[in-house]
Amino acid sequence: SVQTCEPSPHSKSSNEKGEYANLKWDELGFGLIPTDYMYVMNCSKEENSFSKGTLVQFGNMEMNPSSGILNYGQGLLEGLKAYRREDERIMLFRPELNALRMKIGAERMCMPPPTVDQFVDAIKQTVYANKRWVPPPGKGSMYIRPLLLGSGPGLGVGPASEYTFITYASPVGNYHKGTLNLVVEEKLYRATPGGTGGIKAIINYASIYKAITEAKAKGFSDVLFLDAKTGKNLEEASTSNIFVVKGNVISTPATDGTILPGITRKSVIEVAHVLGYQIEERSVPVEELFDADEVFLTGTAVVINPVNSVTYQGKRIEYKKGADTVGHNIYEMLTGIQTGRVEDKMGWTLEL
Ligand code: COI
Repeated sequence: SVQTCEPSPHSKSSNEKGEYANLKWDELGFGLIPTDYMYVMNCSKEENSFSKGTLVQFGNMEMNPSSGILNYGQGLLEGLKAYRREDERIMLFRPELNALRMKIGAERMCMPPPTVDQFVDAIKQTVYANKRWVPPPGKGSMYIRPLLLGSGPGLGVGPASEYTFITYASPVGNYHKGTLNLVVEEKLYRATPGGTGGIKAIINYASIYKAITEAKAKGFSDVLFLDAKTGKNLEEASTSNIFVVKGNVISTPATDGTILPGITRKSVIEVAHVLGYQIEERSVPVEELFDADEVFLTGTAVVINPVNSVTYQGKRIEYKKGADTVGHNIYEMLTGIQTGRVEDKMGWTLEL
């Protein structure tokens, strides 16, 4: 099991009213700002289900050097956000979908998952305990990071003997700084058929650092991956799904196992239907980038982010951005629901 130590360095600071932590809320980016508490819940292999978890001070954890996550990468991550509304109510966005995605990922990684109720309860407790770190309305959101880890010791290659579920949180602002200029990656692949691309396996992320680092060194903001089988179809950007707009038609790669089934992706598709756009989930040939009007990325961290340009085989293609775009219309409705500007007729938001 995991033990904790070292209280958060911020745990005593707050503003004069004591309602908000002492932070420059206008300067938030996407980086860790340690908050006060995290939630920890353990499960042994014999029990095969999680018992009641608890809030502990946010800080370092102890883990056996032979644990499944440290040795063989047996672990999953999730990401979701809490928003503070003008009336100060704090709302979560579709947390049960993260719980269900973790359940599917846990099956693939031979891990016992928390139940949907346990997952959502852990999120609520984490946000509530850290609520002074939820940014003021309009200044960002609280990003919550659930982790499911093979934490038990064991050298043999096989499912760990114990599991730990953790949720911690950090206030965040925009994920990408400035305009998004992407480059299509033609040598490295993010996912392969039958692999783990369709789940939020921890091992999926470090393997894309090389592509991102090389792209950034050339002045790009991020990479666009192609499918590993043919190298001809769009898959994802490094941490987000992609949508391509041509006229009234919005296309996005179908979730066939190598595409991460994003909750923002799903919500964008549902909002696009409501707004009367035609949505196509299918293979999207990379060549369609040459002909598209708009391209945008979606994800919990990136929200809906318009793409300024994509460079493919040395050719740079520029896209429409701004108020008069399909992406912007969807952004307004989706973020309106998340932050309370737009009535939530979908039942997507959950009050703490
Ligand atoms: C998210 O968008 O929440 C993600 O998990 C992507 C990344 C920050 C790892």
